[in-house]
Amino acid sequence: MKSKKSLVYPWQPQNEKRYKLIKFEDDNVLKTTRGVLTDYSSLSFHSSFGFNNNVIAKEMKNQINHSLLTFSKFEQQFQTEIANELLDLLELKGHIFFTQGGADSVEHALKISRESNQRRVILSRRKSYHGATLGALQITGDHRRNVFYLPKGGHHWIPEPKDDPDFSKTLNIIHKIGANNISGICLESITAKNGVYILPPTWIDGLRQVQSKYKINIIFDEVVCGFYRTLKPFGFHHYKIKPDIVCMGKAISNGMAPLGAVYFAPKIMTYFNNNAFKTGHTNYGHPISLAALRGVLKYIKQKSFKNKIETNSKILKNWIKEIGPYIAESRGTGFLYAIDLKSPVSHDVFYQNGISIVMNESTLILCPTISLTKQKLIKDLSQLSNVIRRYS
Ligand SMILES: Cc1ncc(COP(=O)(O)O)c(C=O)c1O
Repeated sequence: MKSKKSLVYPWQPQNEKRYKLIKFEDDNVLKTTRGVLTDYSSLSFHSSFGFNNNVIAKEMKNQINHSLLTFSKFEQQFQTEIANELLDLLELKGHIFFTQGGADSVEHALKISRESNQRRVILSRRKSYHGATLGALQITGDHRRNVFYLPKGGHHWIPEPKDDPDFSKTLNIIHKIGANNISGICLESITAKNGVYILPPTWIDGLRQVQSKYKINIIFDEVVCGFYRTLKPFGFHHYKIKPDIVCMGKAISNGMAPLGAVYFAPKIMTYFNNNAFKTGHTNYGHPISLAALRGVLKYIKQKSFKNKIETNSKILKNWIKEIGPYIAESRGTGFLYAIDLKSPVSHDVFYQNGISIVMNESTLILCPTISLTKQKLIKDLSQLSNVIRRYS
């Protein structure tokens, strides 16, 4: 017998009223039984380049005429080629391991770090989200870690960088734990849902020092901030530091196929050259997912894309200035901003006015499609201003 509730939905009570999604329209419009909604979150940070991006879709369609299988015991040229292109975008020398998505990238990054330096402890921040798998959830700081079955040990919190700008409190913690026990520090280059905090340069100096002095791996979770979300290819490009490990996901395939990737530095590879790489899934570097990545890379290499994001980021920055009187504080860069409203507007009010947006208490997390036409972006932002002006 068919159950009415055969499908299970993540991160929500199953009894919640659910509207139907009818169509993804244009670059950022959702047609639903709740009405037409303009999306300001790139569908939870992943569809950075538009819902119906033709360049990406074309690469995926073409791939269907070729192999649809992968088998990791043998070399497949297309996987190497795309890994090399990804290294170019990262502007780093090293190695790429493909994964199934964001959390899976973090999960593998933690394993790679721990295995390669044979140390156990990972340091992370409370204002963070790293994914739903157990390893990633253990180092996550936000409310989503509240499950009783988290793994124990091998993890320690560090203070928020804004509360420790000279890194001294973090350094004390490192000395207390013993630097030789610490495998890595894992953090978002710019926190996403948890408030969009940019790291202070003096804190980065501290990070660089423990990286070189104590050989602690610096692991940047770029699942949200990768692929031009912050105007630079990756969030860490805003800082003077070369990461040892980078976690990628979401916009890596514009959300059009499941994919993630982990970058790691040559020094880490020296361990795995002679020791088995003890992790991985059967369906490794799937051709359709990698075709989506090929499409993303093709799309972002276009000159018109670079021009568009330069223009759009200025429009967004100016818009934030314009609604200044309604804002207590704003933080961010590129296409990722946190806007603390002086008086909160409920999620429902935004929905009723045709807006789908990520909120964290009275903070709006603005993460729009980065490749909208200038006219569409201006139109959308005026819709958002109208609601803020009317209800805040
Ligand atoms: C910074 C960060 N890392 C990792 C993840 C996990 O990605 P996914 O949900 O695609 O597994 C997320 C998801 O929101 C994220 O924001």
